[in-house]
Amino acid sequence: MKFAFFDAKPYDKPSFEKYGSQNGIEFKYFETKLNPDTVDLAKGYDGVCVFVNDTVNAQVIDKLYEFGIRIVALRCAGYNNVDLKHAEGKLRVLHVPAYSPYAVAEHAMALLLTSVRRIHKAYIRTKDFNFSLNSLTGFDLHGKTVGVVGTGKIGRIFMNICQGFGMNILAYDKFPDQSLPCKYVSLEELFAQSDIISFHCPLTAETHNMLNADTIPLLKKGVVIVNTSRGALIDSEALLEGIKSRKIGAACLDVYDEEESIFFEDNSGHIMNDDTLARLLSMPNVIVTSHQAFLTEEALDNIASTTVQNILCATNCEDCDREL
Ligand code: NAI
Repeated sequence: MKFAFFDAKPYDKPSFEKYGSQNGIEFKYFETKLNPDTVDLAKGYDGVCVFVNDTVNAQVIDKLYEFGIRIVALRCAGYNNVDLKHAEGKLRVLHVPAYSPYAVAEHAMALLLTSVRRIHKAYIRTKDFNFSLNSLTGFDLHGKTVGVVGTGKIGRIFMNICQGFGMNILAYDKFPDQSLPCKYVSLEELFAQSDIISFHCPLTAETHNMLNADTIPLLKKGVVIVNTSRGALIDSEALLEGIKSRKIGAACLDVYDEEESIFFEDNSGHIMNDDTLARLLSMPNVIVTSHQAFLTEEALDNIASTTVQNILCATNCEDCDREL
């Protein structure tokens, strides 16, 4: 069986080669993303394997169907890039609902520690033989209040990590789980009382820009914002203003609302067109990683193994609870 693998990155290959070869699936890796201009590359393959920024719209679906393709294997959880309604009755679309909640929760804590202990500054200084400690004063996490927005798979692991640091934990979730070691409060209360706020809820119409120009005034002065969930939970312009006015003490961002055309690629030789991102990056108290929180060996292994299981399931016409 041969699958066309779009938007391939070097770190994808080892795990997909391992599980593919064990199960008789050959992947052909294309660096380009799947979209109406590139869909012809899929001709002659038994299916396509795609990621978050591939476009599986009506035009692409019709072409894939015309080529005899019946399986779209998403190697990610989100599927907002797939026209599921149009795919119905034509293609089986499967995804990977969870791969490593630990990877994301641990990255959130890594960003937080980097920020509050100024590791990003110290790293650059000592590389330049500058051993001065001036302006590197941080603060203890112990005894601080962290507000966790979204207490699902990732949020609850982040919460456990914070518990290990001796932090007080406030939480907000649309569907609270009272068995968790936290105090559920309203979002307004969480915003007002937290020294650190970490976002772990999905992006929906309700959560879109939940941190914005109207809610930032509710925050405690000097609060540290951590977002490893989805960029559009935060209004970036308002965040920038909050940082400039010193209301927000620091921001740790693994996601950004306009990341689609920027993240995952080397733009170092180009002029940055996104002024808000450029200004955020210029701040000493802003740390940005490029949607990297999921990127651990364990998560990549889980993604490949589940995607291959999904392909086998769909090929053998079996039911699969990871089918969309
Ligand atoms: P999950 O589905 O296990 O948990 C989400 C939680 O958010 C649930 O408890 C749910 O009740 C809550 N929620 C839903 N609507 C809400 C609302 N309006 N207000 C407050 N809480 C609400 O999801 P999981 O696996 O914990 O992932 C969380 C998010 O992390 C994902 O939605 C995704 O955006 C992001 N993510 C980021 C990755 C990265 O590499 N940066 C990788 C994987 C996920």
